[in-house]
Amino acid sequence: PTIFRKDYVAPGFWVDTVEMGFDLDLHETHVATRITMRRNHDSAEKDLVLFGASLKLLQLRMNGVNLKKNAYTIDGEVMRIANAPDEVTLEIETLIKPLKNTSLSGLYASNGNFITQCEAEGFRKITWFPDRPDVMAKYTVMLRANKKKFPILLGNGNLIEEGDLGDGRHFAKWEDPFKKPSYLFALVAGKLVCQEENYTLKSGRSVLLQVWVEDGNLDKTQHAMDSLKNSIRWDEERFGLELDLDRFMIVATSDFNMGAMENKGLNIFNTKYVLANSRIATDVDYAGIESVVGHEYFHNWTGNRVTCRDWFQLSLKEGLTVFRDQEFSADLVGTTTGRAVKRIEDVRVLRQVQFSEDAGPMAHPVRPDSFVEINNFYTVTIYEKGSEVVRMYYTLLGHEGFRKGMDLYFARHDGQAVECDDFRAAMADSSGRDLTQFERWYSQSGTPRVKAETTYDAETQTYQLTLSQSCPATPGQDEKLPFHIPVAMGLLDAEGKDIALHCDAYSALAGATNLILELTEASQTFTFTGVAAKPVPSLLRNFSAPVLLDIEYSDEELGLLLANDSDPFNRWEAGQRLATRRLVKLTKAVQAGETLELDSMFIEALRATLVNESLDPSFRELVLTLPSEAMIAEEFDVVDPQAIHTARQFVRTALTQHLRAEFLSAYEANLTPGQYTPDAISMAKRALKNLALSYLSAWSDESTFELAQTQFDEAENMTDRLAALSALTNFHGTETQANAAAQSLKKFYKDFKKEALVIDKWFMLQAVADTTDVAKVRELMEHKAFTLGNPNRARSLTFSFCNGNPSRFHAADGSGYALWAELVIELNKINPQVAARLARSLDRWKKYPLHLQEHMKLALEKVAATKKLSKDVAEVIGKALAA
Ligand code: ARG
Ligand code: ZN
Repeated sequence: PTIFRKDYVAPGFWVDTVEMGFDLDLHETHVATRITMRRNHDSAEKDLVLFGASLKLLQLRMNGVNLKKNAYTIDGEVMRIANAPDEVTLEIETLIKPLKNTSLSGLYASNGNFITQCEAEGFRKITWFPDRPDVMAKYTVMLRANKKKFPILLGNGNLIEEGDLGDGRHFAKWEDPFKKPSYLFALVAGKLVCQEENYTLKSGRSVLLQVWVEDGNLDKTQHAMDSLKNSIRWDEERFGLELDLDRFMIVATSDFNMGAMENKGLNIFNTKYVLANSRIATDVDYAGIESVVGHEYFHNWTGNRVTCRDWFQLSLKEGLTVFRDQEFSADLVGTTTGRAVKRIEDVRVLRQVQFSEDAGPMAHPVRPDSFVEINNFYTVTIYEKGSEVVRMYYTLLGHEGFRKGMDLYFARHDGQAVECDDFRAAMADSSGRDLTQFERWYSQSGTPRVKAETTYDAETQTYQLTLSQSCPATPGQDEKLPFHIPVAMGLLDAEGKDIALHCDAYSALAGATNLILELTEASQTFTFTGVAAKPVPSLLRNFSAPVLLDIEYSDEELGLLLANDSDPFNRWEAGQRLATRRLVKLTKAVQAGETLELDSMFIEALRATLVNESLDPSFRELVLTLPSEAMIAEEFDVVDPQAIHTARQFVRTALTQHLRAEFLSAYEANLTPGQYTPDAISMAKRALKNLALSYLSAWSDESTFELAQTQFDEAENMTDRLAALSALTNFHGTETQANAAAQSLKKFYKDFKKEALVIDKWFMLQAVADTTDVAKVRELMEHKAFTLGNPNRARSLTFSFCNGNPSRFHAADGSGYALWAELVIELNKINPQVAARLARSLDRWKKYPLHLQEHMKLALEKVAATKKLSKDVAEVIGKALAA
């Protein structure tokens, strides 16, 4: 059944305290819960409502009396107790089976340890409870377990008591001093070891920080610990927010559906976002760990202290916390280019994944109006577009204005479960700005398009910029109203210098070189005076709004922007526009069977960037990276994945043919000899060097193969080793070279077979190789190290292939879709959340040629017809088929 935001009703009862006792056993865990509740007289709900799933109910007592079967009803996950008194103490005993819980939601087993995941609705798999985020309570939790098998017992908050029970078992009692919703509950029990440290807060208070991992992984926790300390300091400095507990724990588990979870004081992480050392982790992994550790830590205020009233408000905490983690990573690098590089990387994800979501059958507003399964709404729209919405407040209000808004938000709502509207109100009230129209960013789905048209009048030295906005129809929303769009901009003269701006609408800011125009109407014209010659506009600087910008530039103008724009984001953007233009044209040429040619203007513009040593290597790496096949696909109404792949490969080869010497010197100039460190400068160098290697191996010969082989053999860190292995695997060379590449793949597996996260990389690298077809994926699925039961492993091979190898996945015979259907059906039995993620690979099926659509429709229908389809998968497939 679909749940609607408009149907929200406050809970009939509030909960004050929750006491829980766990007798932990992997086969059968007993859970005893005592809940004190009191009636909420303001609610229209008169029943006492509890939620439960996959539970065996052993006992249910209300105010000391066993509840008879006729005193309550159970319908699906909902239990209703009618005529409950105003003050209630419930005592509930449930029995659960952690070992059988393959959904990784609720209490489950991972390598013999107990782990929980309660967001969004996992707590109801532990006990019957008013499992909704607006019910906040204080928890005390007693954990009991066999001491040998489960020496470590962790819970939320503070450890208040521990000891032996005599019978080979022991206990630990945890108390969380803060009220929290049930989705923030967590426990961990098992054989774990930790790196720990006492850390002194700015206030002088000392806190205990711990990173818990399985035995043998203590050589991989330092970076997570460093990231945690950086996060704590950053939130104090940037937002004045202090850690409110005496102890903060991170636990890593290899069986996890998502990235990590912000449970109060006891964050639980996917190992992917904790474990790192130079041997097993790449620079990208290091950056991922830093941002996810930051993200979960920042949730302690934006999510935990102030939480969501209902799950439609999910972006209230997620969008805001993504914005905070993005700013954290940017501030840690500190430099202007460093910030721009981070911004470009974030925008790339937004455009490639979120814009695509916004254009497909699962499109939804940042604050959805309905859902079937909330777990399907942990999306790039809620997270990344949500973060862009928060960033627009920041752009509109400025650094200090935004901080004032945050301060007011906490002053008003600490300890509360609130709505997106409350956040907007805090921003509006603290700044005195009218943000009424801004609400549409929350309520309207779809990616707005902004069209820019300009005229220049030499006689009056007047320049006019007309901005018009529109937004396509999305499911359930045919007509859109204008958004409030901040458009940061400047005008460049013929030398590429910013000119001083005199805009009629912003006379108070006369002389500025960068203005934030506010587009609020369907169309608006901005007039600039005193413009000596026709300028080149630089619009949407730093990507000031999550929109598509239509503007006609000549190649010359783009070249000027690429070489000179004072806004590094738009410099990069100009390069992407030059590349996209060519990739689209070449894709059409491939389809028409024409000869392919790359023009010298483009080659020379890239050459100039590549050799410009005044530019940060990571920035050069981004400019030299062509738009992905998925990005190119967005330029077409009907997508031809093979033609796109051929065109992009052609451009890569042609560039290497012309820039071989420059790539070679970039390679040589950016070596990072000596000990590996994941600092920004070395990471930037490795990024450019390895991009050069990847280009060089596109123009295959003996010497480039050698280069890759030597780097593989001699690499002292995973970043270089993996880049070399990828170059070898994607090398289109002789048979001898192909054999040597196969040997390297084998050796890599052998050397790292004990490191699950590295074996994930091994599968992924092969999954996205352009020689890997459906048959090869099936062969890899037979490998002894492959399993669908572990989400990381399932993602590494099957998701990577379906989402990251479009020219092979969209095989003309439909074999890719048949594989996809089998996988979704298999995963549906094991883990509905993971299955539903894979199900989304066919979201955009209507964008492909009819013969592919037919195959896709069959595959979708096959999944739809499966017995016992979870509501997770059913929602995704149902929406796709309705498109
Ligand atoms: N709140 C977590 C985070 O943003 C994500 C947890 C989502 N889990 C889920 N099963 N839907 O880090
Ligand atoms: Zn989050």
